[in-house]
Amino acid sequence: MKISSNHYYYFATVLAILLIVPSDAQLSPTFYDSTCPDALSTIRTSIRQAVTDEQRMAASLVRLHFHDCFVQGCDASILLDDTTGERVALQNNNSVRGFEVVEAAKQAVEAICPGVVSCADVLAVAARDATVAVGGPSWTVSLGRRDSPAAASRELAENDLPRFTDSLQTLISKFANKNLTERDMVALSGSHTIGQARCVTFRDRIYGNDSIDPDFAITRRRNCPQSGGDGNLAPLDEVTPNDFDNNYFRNLPQMRGLLESDQVLFSGGSSDSIVQEYITNSDSFSSDFAAAMIKMGDIEPLTGGSGLIRRTCGSNLPIIDSSTYQNSLFSKFE
Ligand code: HEM
Repeated sequence: MKISSNHYYYFATVLAILLIVPSDAQLSPTFYDSTCPDALSTIRTSIRQAVTDEQRMAASLVRLHFHDCFVQGCDASILLDDTTGERVALQNNNSVRGFEVVEAAKQAVEAICPGVVSCADVLAVAARDATVAVGGPSWTVSLGRRDSPAAASRELAENDLPRFTDSLQTLISKFANKNLTERDMVALSGSHTIGQARCVTFRDRIYGNDSIDPDFAITRRRNCPQSGGDGNLAPLDEVTPNDFDNNYFRNLPQMRGLLESDQVLFSGGSSDSIVQEYITNSDSFSSDFAAAMIKMGDIEPLTGGSGLIRRTCGSNLPIIDSSTYQNSLFSKFE
């Protein structure tokens, strides 16, 4: 077959595009450097203030990012105010929190560069800044995620998010489904070194579970009755509940993990040695946690022409002020 010069141009162009466009998610730490150079410092100021106002908020933001990424990818779908989708899944309902803090950070960014920075990116950066604000490790957040036009379904969320009753094998496979290893799963669970859980999530464990320290069970029963008080809170790490350290892991060999899904990480199975390593080497926990958060933040992002940039994280309704309304009218007649 004779190859014409047109063909050469065609192949050269395709090759150039393939070389320029990275094959994976196309996220980049410098994504907003020219379009919104102050985005990251603006988010940081907002998140630091929110954590100063309420320490637990650090935990809530990390979890919100996790629950966003695990269901349909890191696309801010969880932030949409929707009463039938993922927000009401068992693992989220009356549980995930921090929406107004993400919205405030987003509005602070909107004030300096409207319509540029996605809610999914604000949330990813917020999770990092929140971790740092309570003494945890830092990492470089890759950016360029776009927002989903709709919430994910309740069924998808209930299926993909781990449950506190899951066995070690189930936890490993739910994380493997998101390209995360057992080691990533154990490191990420280390964020239970901060934050709180409701009585309803650990009641069965403190009444009648035999793989628990008896004194710990008695202490926890005080504020978590056998019936009622479902929403009463207890710290996931009783020793230093507001510090991002490796105490969560130290609790496990003492059988003082709060959730069943915490204790299964140290129950004679394959993850025991990872827990042990994080107890003796907190630097190894810190660096594994940071690396795993980067991997988690990379789950199925919407990039390029997919998705959109929401102006309000809780809603997809366009905000039309008079000038953009006039512009959009004009553009119709151009
Ligand atoms: C391994 C499987 C996991 C299970 C079964 C699980 C389950 C839970 C449950 C039941 C709670 C208490 C929720 C409530 O009572 O309202 C909780 C809280 C929390 N989870 Fe997990 N989780 C897991 C992994 C993770 C991961 C990977 C992260 C972050 C990367 C994370 C971050 C948190 C944080 C920070 C809190 C406290 C939230 C707050 O105080 O608002 N968890 N988790």
